[in-house]
Amino acid sequence: MARPCFVANWKMNKTVEESISYIRLFQEQCTTLSIQNCDLILAPPYTALFSIWKIISGFSRPIGLAAQNLYYEADGPYTGEISARMLCEIGCQYVIIGHSERRIHFGETDFSVAAKVHAAISAGLTPILCVGESAKEREDGKTIEVVQRQVKEGFCKIEGDLSHCIVAYEPIWAIGTGKTPTPSELEQVHQKIAQSVRGPRVIYGGSVNEGNVAAFMKEPHVDGMLVGGASLSAETFLNIIQVGIQ
Ligand code: PGA
Repeated sequence: MARPCFVANWKMNKTVEESISYIRLFQEQCTTLSIQNCDLILAPPYTALFSIWKIISGFSRPIGLAAQNLYYEADGPYTGEISARMLCEIGCQYVIIGHSERRIHFGETDFSVAAKVHAAISAGLTPILCVGESAKEREDGKTIEVVQRQVKEGFCKIEGDLSHCIVAYEPIWAIGTGKTPTPSELEQVHQKIAQSVRGPRVIYGGSVNEGNVAAFMKEPHVDGMLVGGASLSAETFLNIIQVGIQ
């Protein structure tokens, strides 16, 4: 397993004030628990990024900051959009790209995902590329085909080694549902992803909690977790990390 990585995806949750309370508690407990040898990444909403960065940049224990999206153009007439350079300026080192909620609700395609991955890497951001099959595709036995296609398309504009990148395998049917693949099903998909592109860390997301994380993290090709709902409480997220790295 590569260096484990735990990402908290808050989605459209928490005001700036709520984000600041979270990060203060997170910092306090992180120091007490002495969580080492893993990367911790928080993905708050855009509005809270700068305030969080100002706090975490003073921590002795590094915490990575991720945006949940970006736009692939550098600047220009794109009302409502945010560029990679703007994210770098406010302390982001990572950006989540192609989350299924964006593919489903906001028309994100493999084309826009590839352009965003390219824009992120060009600006020095680490992309966290999300891939995953629907329930129907799983029933039809198409999981591997879909996931391998999304990974290949997502990185199609990038040449060479991808060891600085992260892929998050997030089956759509597992997100926010309480359903998950079994650890061995997960291992199989992660192995196939590792075979189809060279080098990225491959993490899992979809209904991760304190009860299932240990079994997932035991699998050799599972390099970490992307946690949605259960990351909204600092204590729960820290418990997940603690159990996961044991
Ligand atoms: P969940 O979300 O942990 O709430 O299932 C994961 C995600 O969508 O990133």
